[in-house]
Amino acid sequence: MTALLTASALRKSFGPTEALVSASFAIDAGEVVAVMGPSGSGKSTLLHCLAGIVRPDEGQVRYQGRDIAELSDSERTALRRDEFGFVFQFGQLVPELSCLENVALPLRLAGLRRRQAEATAREVMARVDVAELAPKRPGEVSGGQGQRVAIARALVTRPKVIFADEPTGALDSLNGERIMQLLVGAAKESDAAVVLVTHEARVAAYSDREVVVRDGRTREPVVAA
Ligand SMILES: Nc1ncnc2c1ncn2[C@@H]1O[C@H](COP(=O)(O)OP(=O)(O)OP(=O)(O)O)[C@@H](O)[C@H]1O
Ligand SMILES: [Mg+2]
Repeated sequence: MTALLTASALRKSFGPTEALVSASFAIDAGEVVAVMGPSGSGKSTLLHCLAGIVRPDEGQVRYQGRDIAELSDSERTALRRDEFGFVFQFGQLVPELSCLENVALPLRLAGLRRRQAEATAREVMARVDVAELAPKRPGEVSGGQGQRVAIARALVTRPKVIFADEPTGALDSLNGERIMQLLVGAAKESDAAVVLVTHEARVAAYSDREVVVRDGRTREPVVAA
């Protein structure tokens, strides 16, 4: 069986900086993989390559067996919109929209009518316990609440892969645990994969497996026999 999303021998430089030297990765449906490593080691760059946001200089990323570099720009945009969900450290909600409109946005971009998009958005918001925040703007909610709204937005299209870059980085430990339970729960429930970038061992403990990035190189931790 081939994995849902794989990367092999990725190399990516930004000017003189070698962000990735030799990075490989594979994740299956329903799997939660933590990407760990020191600051500047290349974790976010790996995530961006996997998500088709950054194009590697060398190496391949395959989604469902297809090399994403061979897709057209519009196919890649559609892939990110329809199959992938994103959660970042600071929610990155649109400040001018209500929380409900933020969660509904990916469905609106996919062409759904407002009523239908917002009905689905309300269901997902209820699932992550932020239904009552629907009319509020992101500036009017707490960090933990905003992050739950961001998770609702990431889940609303029922993505096959959720990319989370330090999703708990700005939260206290209680809210962090809550976010991880939601992410892992959503993944298991809908058989989605989660690529989880984190510094924190406590957060990585929620994953099925860890991949360590150091100086642009990936390795799986050695398990003592
Ligand atoms: N757009 C960019 N332009 C120039 N350099 C970049 C860019 N993105 C990343 N880099 C550099 O590439 C290296 C890897 O960066 P990356 O963001 O992948 O690290 P990281 O492991 O995610 O770090 P952190 O834990 O601090 O988020 C760093 O040296 C960084 O400065
Ligand atoms: Mg990073």
